[in-house]
Amino acid sequence: MCGIVGYAGKGEALPFLLDGLSKLEYRGYDSAGIAVLDGGGIVCKKAKGRLDNLKNLLSEDAPKGSTGIGHTRWATHGEPSEANAHPHIGGGGRIAVAHNGIIENYAYLKSFLMREGFAFKSETDTEVIANLIEYYLKEQESLLDAVLKALACLEGSYALAVLSRDEPGALIGARKESPLIVGINQGQGEYYLASDVPALISRTKDVYFMEDGELCRISQNGAEFFTSSGKAVEKKPHTVDWEAESGEKGGYAHFMLKEIMEQPRAVHDTMRSRLYPGKPVFFEGIEFGEEYLNYLREIYIVACGTAFHAGLVGKSAIERLTGIPVSCEIASEFRYAEPLIGGNTLLITLSQSGETADTLAAVKLAKSKGAKVLAVTNVVGSTLSREADEVIYTWAGPEIAVASTKAYTTQLAALYMLAVHFAEVLDSAPAEELEKIKSELFSLPEAIETILQKEEEIKTLARLISGEGHLFFIGRNLDYAIAQEGSLKLKEISYIHCEAYGAGELKHGTIALIEPGTYVIALCAQEWISGKTASNIKEVKSRGAKVISFGSGENNLCRGESDYYFELPPLDSFVVPVTEIVPLQLFAYYAAVFKGCDVDKPRNLAKSVTVE
Ligand code: AGP
Repeated sequence: MCGIVGYAGKGEALPFLLDGLSKLEYRGYDSAGIAVLDGGGIVCKKAKGRLDNLKNLLSEDAPKGSTGIGHTRWATHGEPSEANAHPHIGGGGRIAVAHNGIIENYAYLKSFLMREGFAFKSETDTEVIANLIEYYLKEQESLLDAVLKALACLEGSYALAVLSRDEPGALIGARKESPLIVGINQGQGEYYLASDVPALISRTKDVYFMEDGELCRISQNGAEFFTSSGKAVEKKPHTVDWEAESGEKGGYAHFMLKEIMEQPRAVHDTMRSRLYPGKPVFFEGIEFGEEYLNYLREIYIVACGTAFHAGLVGKSAIERLTGIPVSCEIASEFRYAEPLIGGNTLLITLSQSGETADTLAAVKLAKSKGAKVLAVTNVVGSTLSREADEVIYTWAGPEIAVASTKAYTTQLAALYMLAVHFAEVLDSAPAEELEKIKSELFSLPEAIETILQKEEEIKTLARLISGEGHLFFIGRNLDYAIAQEGSLKLKEISYIHCEAYGAGELKHGTIALIEPGTYVIALCAQEWISGKTASNIKEVKSRGAKVISFGSGENNLCRGESDYYFELPPLDSFVVPVTEIVPLQLFAYYAAVFKGCDVDKPRNLAKSVTVE
């Protein structure tokens, strides 16, 4: 996810661009840049790192002009660097482009453009867009027409801001699956482009929300809108009723809630261009051959915290589909356990930040013993992505809240796809079973959306337990893995002490802590074993516990034993963990809100634990 801004008006562009980018840094902050039409030529300034680095660069030499675009980057194609920072200038120096999204067919287009004589300075898919527009500018009268031609060639998602030295005073915007907003301030004769409302709310509350497939042209004469075929459309402006400070969270009270709500899109984007109906799973640039996979003696999954909990699910998925033994270990233990690993070990490591010290140490140890390392991480160019032999990126977008949510569900999506990929290479599972799993994976964004729409129901459940001092999470098999993640979510942001137990393990001691009124959260989405979990529910209820269950399946035996039963959307028990965690995230969130906790920055915690 990146942040885009654009300005066309009577005033200077730069002040709006820099202020707008500062309001959008939450969307990505590994580099930033601006391009301004300054007396005829395009002046483009870019800097790696946070926006302040760009501001320092501009403090000595600020371009003047009334047309400009800006971008703050969250890297997808090409690591964070000045060369990969946006905006990108077309080969002929005639246009500048800022982009948010992923162009799936950029490699094909890049080779076509190189054959047409275009040179490239970056690794990005965005530079391909810039050169493609320049390619069409040779034959098209207007920038709008050239952009329309170029967009027709693109596969993937984009929000674009484009300026041309041949059309000073005007900007073109385009949107497909990545947000783009037009702001208008007719009184000042100013028009704006932005990825999100926060960037322009200090200038105007009158905005147009662009739809997928729409383009716009803004200039001092106003805002015009077009379809992808170039047909003019009338759009209704909206008046935004946000206050400026709430905008950075997209109107949500906290980043955590925003990121919980982003999960359908995040899971969709993580599966995009990797999972297609009827086709093998495809990870660009990664190939685990049959010979290598047959050579493996075992797989280790090593991570910390929430990422470790994702690994527990990944272990189950890979073992079931491939028959390869998988161990899932906490990185801080693994690194001092003298693991018996070697060249026939694959180490899969999971990390949202890619900077967790214990995880990085585990990778170093594994590599020193000859193991191959595959990283699943959410940050392009992170230390982990550079230490690992292979990298699978989750496309969750920046995760700001300390409590990890969308990173977890996208890690699960990546692990499920990896398990299917291994099975397809090894032919270790029936094709029809793999196709069914892929079909279930496809339905995940919609299933998550269904749960998010039951937010009020979950909020009510959270209020029931928000005053508690202790409670327990129980579950069996994959439900136990989810219970551990649900328990961590609740305790790390609401400070309510809770622990997760294998439902069958409770009676071996911990049940002594169950008193009348103790809350037990029972996870029972694995319908096939719900009878056993139902027995455990009876055990704790006979000692006075109150039981809230989260389950699925019409024959789920926990439904009738629970004080409250939250119904999950029907999904195959193999992939249901991806949805099962979502109500628990909201449950933890609202418990913390009711307790008045600092949800996004819980005490004693940090977003990335870069020390031992
Ligand atoms: C999860 O909500 C916590 N913030 C924490 O457990 C986190 O998952 C852990 O520190 C690992 O971080 P990483 O994924 O960036 O490596």
